[in-house]
Amino acid sequence: MSSLSPAKANPASAPVHPAPLRIGLIGFGCVGQGIYDILLRLPEFGAEVRRIAVKNPLKARTLPAEHFTYHADELLADPDLDVLIEVIDDANEAFRLVSAALRQGRRVVTANKAMVANHLPELVALQQNHGGTLLYEAAVCGSIPIVRTLDAYFGQEPLRSVSGIFNGSSNYVLTRMGTDGSDYAPALAEAQAKGFAETDPTLDMAAFDPRSKAVILAAHAYGVLLSPAQVLNLGIEHISATDIAYAAVESQKIKVVAGLYLLPDGQLTVLVTPQLVSRESPLYGVDEEFNGVVIEAEFAGTQFLRGRGAGGYPTGSAVLADLAALRGDFRYAYAKLRATPLAYTTDLELEIYLRTDNETLLDQLGFTDITEEADEDGYIVGYVPLDALLQHRDALRKAGAFVARTGNVRPAPAHSAASQELQAVSS
Ligand SMILES: NC(=O)c1ccc[n+]([C@@H]2O[C@H](COP(=O)([O-])OP(=O)(O)OC[C@H]3O[C@@H](n4cnc5c(N)ncnc54)[C@H](OP(=O)(O)O)[C@@H]3O)[C@@H](O)[C@H]2O)c1
Repeated sequence: MSSLSPAKANPASAPVHPAPLRIGLIGFGCVGQGIYDILLRLPEFGAEVRRIAVKNPLKARTLPAEHFTYHADELLADPDLDVLIEVIDDANEAFRLVSAALRQGRRVVTANKAMVANHLPELVALQQNHGGTLLYEAAVCGSIPIVRTLDAYFGQEPLRSVSGIFNGSSNYVLTRMGTDGSDYAPALAEAQAKGFAETDPTLDMAAFDPRSKAVILAAHAYGVLLSPAQVLNLGIEHISATDIAYAAVESQKIKVVAGLYLLPDGQLTVLVTPQLVSRESPLYGVDEEFNGVVIEAEFAGTQFLRGRGAGGYPTGSAVLADLAALRGDFRYAYAKLRATPLAYTTDLELEIYLRTDNETLLDQLGFTDITEEADEDGYIVGYVPLDALLQHRDALRKAGAFVARTGNVRPAPAHSAASQELQAVSS
């Protein structure tokens, strides 16, 4: 008999199609509609959105009214739903719903970074105590698979840094200012018109949003649970053409960089601020509404991921990946949370570029070294204590000041006789 004769179908080895995943979808806005459409386009994935909860009964919908309920608690009470997807725009209500679902031992996917960042210790404990699972790949950098990469792939390997552009709206504004010479206000208006920025842009432009994402990654990359307020966030609301021009003289760009840095003394620091980024950095070319993440791993070396950080389909893509992971019984290992905890420090000095006309603020920040000063443009470059920036971040915003870090960091003088630079954290 020819060895090429077709093999007879063996019923025992025929592919077994898993039972359809029955989904309860809470929220049907940009992300909710995105994941709904994706699942419709992938019938072979075998998931079915059984129920959808929204808030406003008067809103026009793309689906008939009978698809919707206005009481998300009904989905919590439905034992026939295998997975709940929470994609609403209210972080407090999201926590109420997600924590109730986890208390029932349910499987939940969320995209809500503020909710996860504000409640991570409770969310981890709820999973441990009640056996449920929470996945939130969509909460950090949209389509970029960074949470699972850090948790599962780099769960054992020490990481020197994880840094990146975690907010597409502010990156879009900076790109318009840098490439078209646009001022801040029209660049922001354009971002809003294209749907890249919210009507209230504060969370994005004042760097609260990337700070939430940095807090989430600190747990997976370093096993450090932080509250968002511990992390310095400075934004671009007061950036001007002077600042863009200052960066351009050295062929640099200003980007809002969220950076998690393991310092040589073994402590972790996290900073979310505008930064002068040189051509050599992989982040230099991450423009428009894109996000990018650079991982500096002890053994793997440098890795770089770039992709769309927002939008219904890119974010829905991350939700889809989480659904597939749940089907395979994946859960975050939080391996580094279980290891010996790393200490978190803000006892550092950062070299910053500061443009302000507020003399009081200059005194309060307490520059320890001045590298450069230009009275006519109103800027100063030098080292300031990170704790002073944390203490005065609201005052900096109110005073209309603009701050960018150069990437140089050094220990606070009391802790270092040598006071040498720790490292240039410029990626
Ligand atoms: N948009 C993005 O690109 C993106 C990217 C990553 C992560 N995220 C996160 O994903 C989440 C959703 O964002 P989105 O842009 O899709 O928001 P969105 O377009 O504003 O939609 C929010 C949805 O939540 C519903 N909702 C609000 N409160 C509710 C409640 N109490 N019960 C039931 N439904 C409620 C709203 O109902 P109505 O329709 O009745 O108003 C709406 O359908 C947020 O946490 C956001 O931070 C968004």
